[in-house]
Amino acid sequence: MALPLANRYDGIRRIAPTDITTRGGAVHGHLATSLLIRIRSRAHATLQQQMYRGIRRAILTGAAVPGTRLPSSRALADDLGVSRTTAVLALEQLAAEGYLASRRGAGTFVADDLPDDFPSVPGRGRTRTGRHPGPPTQPPLSRRGAALATAPEGAERLAGPPRAFRIGTPGLDLFPIALWQRLITRRLRSATAAQLDYGDPAGLRALREAIAGHVQMARGTQCSADQVVVVGGAQQGLDLICRMLLDPGERAWMEEPGYPGARSALLGAGARIVPVRVDAEGLDVGAGARRAGDARLVYLTPSHQYPLGVPMSLRRRLALLRWAGSARAWIIEDDYDSEFRYGTRPIPCLHGLDAGGRVIYVGSFSKTLFPALRLGFLIAPAGLQERLVAGRRVADQHPPALDQAALADFILDGHFARHLRRMRTAYRERLDALAAAVERYCGDALRLRPVRTGLHAVAELAGADAVKVSREAARRGLEVTPLTAYYAQRARAVNGLVLGFAAVRPDVLARGAERLAGAIDAARRS
Ligand SMILES: Cc1ncc(COP(=O)(O)O)c(C=O)c1O
Repeated sequence: MALPLANRYDGIRRIAPTDITTRGGAVHGHLATSLLIRIRSRAHATLQQQMYRGIRRAILTGAAVPGTRLPSSRALADDLGVSRTTAVLALEQLAAEGYLASRRGAGTFVADDLPDDFPSVPGRGRTRTGRHPGPPTQPPLSRRGAALATAPEGAERLAGPPRAFRIGTPGLDLFPIALWQRLITRRLRSATAAQLDYGDPAGLRALREAIAGHVQMARGTQCSADQVVVVGGAQQGLDLICRMLLDPGERAWMEEPGYPGARSALLGAGARIVPVRVDAEGLDVGAGARRAGDARLVYLTPSHQYPLGVPMSLRRRLALLRWAGSARAWIIEDDYDSEFRYGTRPIPCLHGLDAGGRVIYVGSFSKTLFPALRLGFLIAPAGLQERLVAGRRVADQHPPALDQAALADFILDGHFARHLRRMRTAYRERLDALAAAVERYCGDALRLRPVRTGLHAVAELAGADAVKVSREAARRGLEVTPLTAYYAQRARAVNGLVLGFAAVRPDVLARGAERLAGAIDAARRS
């Protein structure tokens, strides 16, 4: 039987068939053209790796099905222009991993009994048996996994740099990158071997002290560094708290409308989510107690309700703490963007009113610094911190030590307080630009609710459907989120839009409002 021949082609060598039989589009008998083993002399991978990957890919994509005979190592080496040793090593690796099997005296074949951990078949539309993929044969996800995988994501993002009205992203154009680089470099230069080892799972001590100091000064509560757990963003904190405090099937109150990230964390813990309405005073505690008085946990954003923006009244805060005390329930206070206030005094956090040790405070550096930093923190009541730390070890041991150290320096050297002051002024300008532009271009259709805190505004929409408007807006390169995206019961949603104003400059917001007016018109006409 003839062997495949080498075939030079634009610097790529491929194995050409001289003897092929095909069945169902896949190659049987000799390894054939469809292998397309690409050997590039200037590739990042070694020749052996390239050969290994080429054959493996042919098997994974179904181009070479079980039972296909491979040429000898010598013939392959000749065909591909590599040394015999290279070819032997590549084939040995494939055999060791179970892709190939040798039959004494007959040669090397694609194994009949292929490994179970097959990756999917990207882009080829054929399975490893050469057939087109049928119904999924994978084992199912867990019930929690399935709920998580289908949970709505909230705001949609267009590719590329921030667009007008993006929510969740701060003014990254004003972040002092050069200063951050200096702090990181300084820490990296002075790193010792000991600092390369596993660190404290509660987070770097210096950072926990800096966080405790800042929160006490800025958020009106008492806490010590021993209560702080540094986490990989608020999201990891929410996930950790829900997993540690809820058993599957237990009920948890969630603001309606509310933050999709918290909803996912609750789903991930197997909680039964009870949506509790939000009105002008924030979460309606009475309604929650009537619907699910036995709930184990409450998630809320009392300083700046997400997404409606209302602060929770003192009356409701006290009612919630009273209820949690009698129901033996935990409270998660997500204080995600309360550092930014416009013309009002700071509203102290709920944690500061909690005498019963029920409130777990969640903070994030995603809004105050930048989201890619992936650092946030929890402040846990006495007695809970060590248990949360035990649970966080399971996730990631601790966040990267270098970033934690640079952040501690950023806070302790006074840069954090300065950055917050500067950003408050910038966001005030951006908010004013948004309000003026909405009034000017969309005044008849959009009414902005007053904004006193945070980085987004809520606008009530008249005469057009918010979902249609957001679709039309996306066509015009804008990111406008309908309020429905935040409701579990979408039919109850107010017809309105959430408009971020932090991520882009005032002139971009003004031009965006002009285009938004066009989107509203188009949605009305449709
Ligand atoms: C309500 C709420 N909580 C928390 C966060 C911050 O999450 P993370 O620290 O995981 O970026 C956000 C970010 O958009 C948010 O909107």
